[in-house]
Amino acid sequence: MLEGKTVVLAVSGSIAAYKSAGLARRFKKLGADVQVLMTKNATYFINPITFESLTGTKCLIDTFDRNFEFSVEHVALAKRADLVLLAPASANVIGKICAGIADDMLTTTIMACTCPKIIAPAMNHNMYHNPIVQDNLRRLAGYGYEIIAPGHGMLANGDEGDGRMPDEDLLLEASLRQLTVPRDLAGKKVLVTAGPTQEAIDPVRFITNHSTGRMGYAVAAAAMRRGAQVTLVSGPTALRPPYFVETVPVVSAEDMYQAVTERAPESDYIIMTAAVADYRPQEAAQEKIKKGEGPAVLPLVRTKDILAALGQNRRPGQVICGFSMETEELIAHSRDKLARKNVDMIAANSLREEGAGFGVETNRLTLITKEKTEELPLMTKEEAAGIILDRLIGLGEER
Ligand code: CTP
Repeated sequence: MLEGKTVVLAVSGSIAAYKSAGLARRFKKLGADVQVLMTKNATYFINPITFESLTGTKCLIDTFDRNFEFSVEHVALAKRADLVLLAPASANVIGKICAGIADDMLTTTIMACTCPKIIAPAMNHNMYHNPIVQDNLRRLAGYGYEIIAPGHGMLANGDEGDGRMPDEDLLLEASLRQLTVPRDLAGKKVLVTAGPTQEAIDPVRFITNHSTGRMGYAVAAAAMRRGAQVTLVSGPTALRPPYFVETVPVVSAEDMYQAVTERAPESDYIIMTAAVADYRPQEAAQEKIKKGEGPAVLPLVRTKDILAALGQNRRPGQVICGFSMETEELIAHSRDKLARKNVDMIAANSLREEGAGFGVETNRLTLITKEKTEELPLMTKEEAAGIILDRLIGLGEER
């Protein structure tokens, strides 16, 4: 994902510095060229060799280190950088950057960088809430730095408060968001549904399906990285809600209908990946149903078809995509759905294909529009999410 990108990971003197080793590893795994810069104080918390082993690149500490090609050429690194992530950012370094002081490799490079810059403060609760630090952060935000607020919890000295360095996953996602090009969904509102629904039979039982939500979560994250304001309406899944996405948890098809129809009118793109139950028990029993002799009969009634309702009430310019999972006649059934539900695209997947469908990391989709049937090869759900968005943006631009 980050092939060809240079990430400058700047580490300053905070106990959280050890956590940055995980970040360096993750960036490297994603294919980035990772250049770690450390302040002298940071080296008291973590040895530069840790970063050098993880990144395969010399860790830069002193501007006047003559053993390295960038010894006095911090500008060369600043030119190559696609992103600077300052994590952890100590109160001291924040203060220096804010005051325009550049007296070591880290601060000189950051000053020379024109690429996006993210700052993740990590310090003691009182230091973080010190009005000077808060003022500095506000000023830096005003200069265009992205500030990721620290988390709340147990701090290094055992106190509870604000100041914990944010999760590795959150910092990585913030970085991916800055590094993603094109940001062709900037200013757009995208509504995504994901996961299964649960239809209650009684207080302990429900009807559901095998959907894990992965496809929808991948679409939501991809749209967010491309600049959209994303709302994800999700049935119950085991997945962590994507960062920088508003996630609305729902349980039943009726809940999902309410959540989606409320938000649909303002959405530019709607992508319904959810495996919504087509039927629910007529009555959810108040008490647990006791077993009896002989077969049990459970009367089922149809749920509302959310996608069809969206197709009927679409506003001009809105682009709507449904999903379809079939075990036979994939194309014919999906084409029929496209027309019947009045949507712009159906992403169809066959349960009979290896690597496609529920609970796997890959998908083999066929994208069906009025004009075209496009068979995609087997790919990860993240890759598929990217192509779905490409095609939907294309349909949006045709309007
Ligand atoms: N869907 C929906 N509301 C429902 C059921 C489905 O919005 N109550 C959406 C799904 O999110 C998906 C699409 O409709 O995007 C396809 O669902 P599917 O159940 O396969 O469509 P049907 O036309 O109902 O197909 P079948 O006759 O096979 O049930």
